[in-house]
Amino acid sequence: MTTLIQGGQVVSPAGAVEADVLVDGERITAVAAPGVLTGDETIDAAGKYVLPGGIDAHTHMEMPFGGTQSADSFETGTVAAAWGGTTTIIDFAVQAKGTSLLSTLDKWHGKADGHCAVDYGFHMIVSDVNDASLKEMRACVEAGVGSFKMFMAYPGVFYSTDGEILRAMQQAREIGATVMMHAENGIAIDELAAQAYAAGRVGPVEHGRTRPPELEGEATSRAIRLAEVTGSPLYIVHLSAAQALAAVAQARDEGQNVFAETCPQYLYLSIEDLAKPGFEGAKYVASPPLREKPHQADLWRGLRTNDLSVVSTDHCPFCFKDQKELGRGDFRAIPNGIPGVEHRMDLLHQGVVAGEISLGRWVETCSATPARMFGLYPRKGVIAAGSDADIVIYDPAAKQTLSAETHHMNVDYSAYEGFELSGKVHTVLSRGRVVVSPEGFSGGAGHGKFLSRGLNQYLN
Ligand code: URP
Ligand code: ZN
Ligand code: ZN
Repeated sequence: MTTLIQGGQVVSPAGAVEADVLVDGERITAVAAPGVLTGDETIDAAGKYVLPGGIDAHTHMEMPFGGTQSADSFETGTVAAAWGGTTTIIDFAVQAKGTSLLSTLDKWHGKADGHCAVDYGFHMIVSDVNDASLKEMRACVEAGVGSFKMFMAYPGVFYSTDGEILRAMQQAREIGATVMMHAENGIAIDELAAQAYAAGRVGPVEHGRTRPPELEGEATSRAIRLAEVTGSPLYIVHLSAAQALAAVAQARDEGQNVFAETCPQYLYLSIEDLAKPGFEGAKYVASPPLREKPHQADLWRGLRTNDLSVVSTDHCPFCFKDQKELGRGDFRAIPNGIPGVEHRMDLLHQGVVAGEISLGRWVETCSATPARMFGLYPRKGVIAAGSDADIVIYDPAAKQTLSAETHHMNVDYSAYEGFELSGKVHTVLSRGRVVVSPEGFSGGAGHGKFLSRGLNQYLN
């Protein structure tokens, strides 16, 4: 059975062209000028964009954190992703200290397999660097997990010393893997946070004030130097600060394999949200923290210049009630994370509407580049014959208002409550199956398959 998506504008990093797209089973079989192809069924895409499905390369479903766990399961989180035009997520398996990487991977397969509504892959969080786990990195690559996140933040939890990072980078260089870095100076931050608490400054805004942008810039520079010394590819996750962006831009100008992502919350929200009255600011606690507004212009520029190559969400939802509330009276105990997997495509389309990025750049940062960065191209990230039929039909003329009342994420608030946006997902196909349409959600848990990924396709 074939389906023809007819009359739309197919968007790629090169821009938009009028074309029809033929889908047969799970794959795209042809893309041609309007009127050339026929199909058993048609979907009318007139007046709409036809995009490769979004790839969110940074999510945390069912993630244990701060004595609780993130509120979206792999099922609820991937259903919400589909609603927002994201047809692939790459989540993080989290090594607990004293456990092995491969048992961690098994555990995360146990959580996700058979439950996801869209395709998914894993990165591995390495929090216990030792001979055994370094050796297991190679087996992870063979199991389709070729990217390893490390933390310069969260001492006592995920934190690795510079020496441990150096050793993991040496191994990454050896096996062709990419090290992903949470770059904040956690040792200095914990000291500032302890001082704030001791001085009676305990509210959510202190989370931002005790994690200054300079300490993200410093850690980013240090990670870059360690990557330079070892020759490891480096991908800076959730970059939020102008200082960190400057370090990435310089390394890239010098030809180093350094890449970075930012997230919608850093483009649209600010420390003013963290400073909302009462405990409201807890909704916006994530690390790195939301910054002063002037950083936003730098981040948009970074997206235009490709110093920021990817937009991911760092979707890590904790309900306000009972979860964020764990930190009433001590901002250090507020679980870190902001929900957003459903809204990335829309929020970045708003950047197109506002003239911050082009239509092509929207698709490039949200789909094509994450596919290449994490070894999924051309199966994902492109509308082309032979690629998976992960397709979003997007209506740029539709209007919507974001709200917890209407979103599909399993979380009791929206960080974007009341945001009025132009553009909305109309129809979503995941491997050829219509999973979202104006009639509603027609996908299912278990439709999503594990993606065994290749290595970073950008390395020089
Ligand atoms: O606040 C955040 N970002 N929570 C998720 C964990 C991480 O560091 O990515
Ligand atoms: Zn992080
Ligand atoms: Zn994260």
